[in-house]
Amino acid sequence: MNKLKIVVLLTATSVGAMAQTKKPAPKLKANTVSASALRSSLERGKEMYATYCVTCHQTDGGGVPNLNAPLIKSSNVVGDKKKLINILLKGMQGIDIDGESYSNVMPSASYLTDQQIADVLTYIRNNFENKASAVTAAEVNLIRKSK
Ligand code: HEC
Repeated sequence: MNKLKIVVLLTATSVGAMAQTKKPAPKLKANTVSASALRSSLERGKEMYATYCVTCHQTDGGGVPNLNAPLIKSSNVVGDKKKLINILLKGMQGIDIDGESYSNVMPSASYLTDQQIADVLTYIRNNFENKASAVTAAEVNLIRKSK
């Protein structure tokens, strides 16, 4: 009886493995991100934010007056993804945002991978009172290569 159980288990795992290897490559449709992909992207993005952004933009995304721009309800954050991705890739300095100026320098984060940038942007687009579509690694890659 035990033997039978093992055989059944083994069969189940190899079928599982086969199904995984036969999975077709994901199609690159920018705005179709599955709920589970979105969840893991948000989790990774949260860590990225805590590592690379929180010192300037703060835990609540509120920034620091006159120094670091807030990310709360910012039109750039929830707006055009190309522009937003470029802010991360190229950095930003001395640009007034909604009539406010910020004296600190937003450093380029181009050293991060496409996936890391996608994750952190998806995170800030869905936190701090923001609600916007996910950013994918493919989109970041497209913008990175188009410079
Ligand atoms: C050294 C401080 C610093 C760090 C670290 C930093 N930023 Fe910034 N960020 C700024 C400043 C300052 C501005 C505004 C620059 C300006 O006005 O020209 C800014 C602007 C932005 C904007 C544009 C906001 C808007 O409303 O237009 C976004 C988006 C942004 N940062 C995201 C991030 C993310 C994501 C990270 C982490 C990967 C990050 N920043 C790390 C200082 C920083």
